[in-house]
Amino acid sequence: MSLDAPYRDPALPADQRVDDLLGRMTLAEKVGQMLQLDARGDVKEIVSEKLAGSILHTSPAKMLEAIDLVAKTRLQIPLLTAEDCIHGHSFWPGATIFPSQLAMAATWNPALVERMARVTAVEVAATGTHQTFSPVLCITRDLRWGRVDETFGEDPFLIGELGSAMVRGYQGDGLSDPTAILATAKHFAGYSETQGGRDASEADISPRKLRSWFLPPFERVAREGCEVFMLGYQSMDGVPITANKWLLNDVLKQEWGFSGTLVTDWDNVGRMVWEQKVCADYAEAAAVAVRAGNDLIMTTPGFFEGAQEAVERGLLTEADIDGAVRRILRLKFEMGLFENPRVPDPERQREVIGIAEHQELNLELARRSLVLLKNDGVLPLENNDRFRRVAVLGPNADDVQANLGDWAGNSGQIDWMPDGHPREMTETVLDGFRAVAPKEWDIVHARGADIERLVPDPAGAVLPDGQPRPPISQAAPVDQHLIELARAEALRADYAVVVIGDTVNLVGEHKSTATLELQGGQIALLDAIAATKTPMIVVLLNSKPAVLPPSALGAAAIIQAFSPGMRGGRAIAELVLGLIEPSGRLPLSVARHVGQQPVYYNQLRGQHGTRYADLTQEPLFVFGEGLNYTTIEYSDLTVETPRVAADGVVRATVRLTNTGPRPALETVQAYVSDLVTSVTWANRELKAYRQVEVPAGESVIATIEVPASSCSLVTADNRRVVEPGDFELLVGPSSREASLIKANFKIA
Ligand code: NOJ
Repeated sequence: MSLDAPYRDPALPADQRVDDLLGRMTLAEKVGQMLQLDARGDVKEIVSEKLAGSILHTSPAKMLEAIDLVAKTRLQIPLLTAEDCIHGHSFWPGATIFPSQLAMAATWNPALVERMARVTAVEVAATGTHQTFSPVLCITRDLRWGRVDETFGEDPFLIGELGSAMVRGYQGDGLSDPTAILATAKHFAGYSETQGGRDASEADISPRKLRSWFLPPFERVAREGCEVFMLGYQSMDGVPITANKWLLNDVLKQEWGFSGTLVTDWDNVGRMVWEQKVCADYAEAAAVAVRAGNDLIMTTPGFFEGAQEAVERGLLTEADIDGAVRRILRLKFEMGLFENPRVPDPERQREVIGIAEHQELNLELARRSLVLLKNDGVLPLENNDRFRRVAVLGPNADDVQANLGDWAGNSGQIDWMPDGHPREMTETVLDGFRAVAPKEWDIVHARGADIERLVPDPAGAVLPDGQPRPPISQAAPVDQHLIELARAEALRADYAVVVIGDTVNLVGEHKSTATLELQGGQIALLDAIAATKTPMIVVLLNSKPAVLPPSALGAAAIIQAFSPGMRGGRAIAELVLGLIEPSGRLPLSVARHVGQQPVYYNQLRGQHGTRYADLTQEPLFVFGEGLNYTTIEYSDLTVETPRVAADGVVRATVRLTNTGPRPALETVQAYVSDLVTSVTWANRELKAYRQVEVPAGESVIATIEVPASSCSLVTADNRRVVEPGDFELLVGPSSREASLIKANFKIA
């Protein structure tokens, strides 16, 4: 290929370069550009035979191989490389692994989330990866679903705030910024409305329900310039998402003006043939996917032949393919990849990956992600000069992966990090206590219980879609010997910190759970430690909320830590010892019993009562809940704008009084209830919140602003409108009705 071809000229506008390059490409080369293939396979076949324009799950070694192979292709079109860097550079040995997305959500802090995304982008960009499959903007609806940990929780407004921040952080100064990576908003849209929590089941969801709660976070980031959208796996009303022209074209592209790139989820095109069985062969499936507006086709190698055959059979025209290829090439030109293919840079990697500054931010995020759910006054532990013995017990007390969670190192998705991230980078809870407790204190440990035994799935090691099939996690038997060792330590100790939870085998894609109970010997361990009468602090180090047994509920204190990342153990020890204040708030509701699903707070009005015959419907802990080491009283809620126009802003003030001995970082939450609506609607919805420092013994006034335009609903004919009339503003420390103070306002 001549070096002076116009498409190689950076001085020409991107569209002109795209035209020139497209004009030179064969149909096979065009179809190849649409492929985003799994680089754990044979890279030579992927790049040289299927002519793939993009790869994912690429080990450091294969990245270099792929780049070399591209240089030998006819047109030398640079690769777009992608990875699931969803809480740090998941699969790069030694990268900074942050708290899970759910844990990040518990900070309720967009600024911190944006900084974590910026740091992640800087680390990722140095390794030659251009795109991250993050953030997840799905709404948690059923806690049994295996991917709850990947979400920002259950509230569309909070998800929008944090998702938008994450996209900004990843995308930095834009496409030409060499430290930026492409953000991918996923999984568009409705994927989390599972049936029975089962992953990728048909989502029973109407267009109106989608528009009401599932679409708003996506709309926000689409309008703000998120470059890539990834589809989910689900079908809705019988239509696989990959074929959903209404959602992909009418809503996303036309209504919201999205001009970025669409990527399918894993083998979505193949699934329409072998799983959903709505297409007879790959040619039909390719035609359906292209016509619905998909661009990058993830991990369906058969699309290569299928799409070419579809053109031959007249199911597609080459012009249809050109539309998608044009978008992909334009992206590559605008990123400047033809001039600088952004290949791995070892020197830069040494400068930025896992450096102290990033670890410091990681610690800050971990601290802010911890939610104190119960405290009878035992916390913070008395930290004076007296000798203390603390027994740090439980199967997750010294478990690295329990801190890192899913999508990190050897969590199961990739094959080049069998030993995970370097051990010394992660501080377990035990490490944390040893590092931060007073030197003269005695920190002892016993595991106390096992969670699971892993057995190979008899169905085989590989799923039909080519992904590794997870082993089956069976509850470990109660081991009296382990319990006895832990009990003995608890008896000798002043405090027992019991760290329990789940494992990566109980969370993730293909790993929804039927129950929410603590598995294996954990309940027996809690019962035994509770019986010692040593004050017990339960630390829930898990990926998603668990249902707790009475012994845990009766503990002196409960701390919720959703996979808190590499520094999580230290942050937990700091919190227990009172070196920091608790400030995290739950981004989702926690059930008392698995049978309460779904338990999210913003349910529709109109059912009979609030109880089951045998159980309350009240969650155990509600959305927004979290304690301080002090008490904050809310009073004097004043709406300064009792009547606003539909384009106005509701302004209110509330007094916060810190009646205790320690400072607080209080998350003031403002919910709105539309008192009479033309359709049934949620009783209250979060519309604004602020994090306010309230020094010990002082009183501060917090201001709240709610745009009237956000007090909207979706009408029976599927339009989002503000219905003028009377509204209630509810302000307080959580979504629990009894904790909120109220004032009225009118929208004219
Ligand atoms: C399938 C998952 O659903 C998606 O979230 C992920 O980004 C891709 N696999 C790539 O690993």
